[in-house]
Amino acid sequence: MLEQIQEAARFIQANTSVQPQIGIILGTGLGALARELTIEKTLNYETIPHFPLSTVEFHSGKLLLGTLEGKPVVVMQGRFHYYEGYTMQQVIFPVRVMHALGVRTLLVSNAAGGMNPDFQTTDLMVIDDHIGLLLPQNPLVGPNPPEFGDRFPDMSEPYSKALIEQAFQVASERGIALKKGVYVSVTGPQLETRAEYRMLRQWGADAVGMSTVPEVIVANQMGMAVFGVSVITDMCLPDTLEKADISKIIAAAGAAEPKLTELMRGLVKRL
Ligand code: HPA
Repeated sequence: MLEQIQEAARFIQANTSVQPQIGIILGTGLGALARELTIEKTLNYETIPHFPLSTVEFHSGKLLLGTLEGKPVVVMQGRFHYYEGYTMQQVIFPVRVMHALGVRTLLVSNAAGGMNPDFQTTDLMVIDDHIGLLLPQNPLVGPNPPEFGDRFPDMSEPYSKALIEQAFQVASERGIALKKGVYVSVTGPQLETRAEYRMLRQWGADAVGMSTVPEVIVANQMGMAVFGVSVITDMCLPDTLEKADISKIIAAAGAAEPKLTELMRGLVKRL
């Protein structure tokens, strides 16, 4: 895998002069931030050696290199999900490539179901911590060359406290309401039953989604500072659960995008 990572990174470097220190992964229905970039190069995933191909219709599958608020960034417009049939190694491959490009700060967003009754649809939840052990595979299982990082990575601060603090400062300056909570990752692709939501809530999670944790584990192993935010696209309260409607989920993500974009821009500006 190490050689494949290096080959992908070399290909990207040969196609751009941007030397990104910040990586951004945009979640489902959350591509608007891309419009704020000064893009120097767009690379479709299928053109990058060893990159998995994106299959979900809501994901456009492009790597963008450019600047945001004058800072060099690399942006994944569309991520890889385990439910699409990728292995965890494929899901996290781009994060290792980002590290090889020089990325040391990773900003991630996702769409998630809200289980905390204080939340409502279109809220932004800053991810304070996560639960990943329900996932059936772990991206760190297998050979671990020293370039990857520790064999037994620490996870005591998976989301940087400093970045969380800065995000709350940006939010208060710009009048953006933020929630904070624990994100639990499940494979999907089916949504959860009422009993499952009840269980996940009792286990301490505030929001549930189908992504992010594998990438964040790997980013932590590589020593990156991580900031994550969930857009609450639907409420998942077991006693009042409504039928899930994917078009409504996408619409809620779209409605929250301006706030998310503003927050991410403000945060990048401070980095
Ligand atoms: N469950 C899992 N993933 C999700 C949900 C949900 O309710 N909503 C948006 N992504």
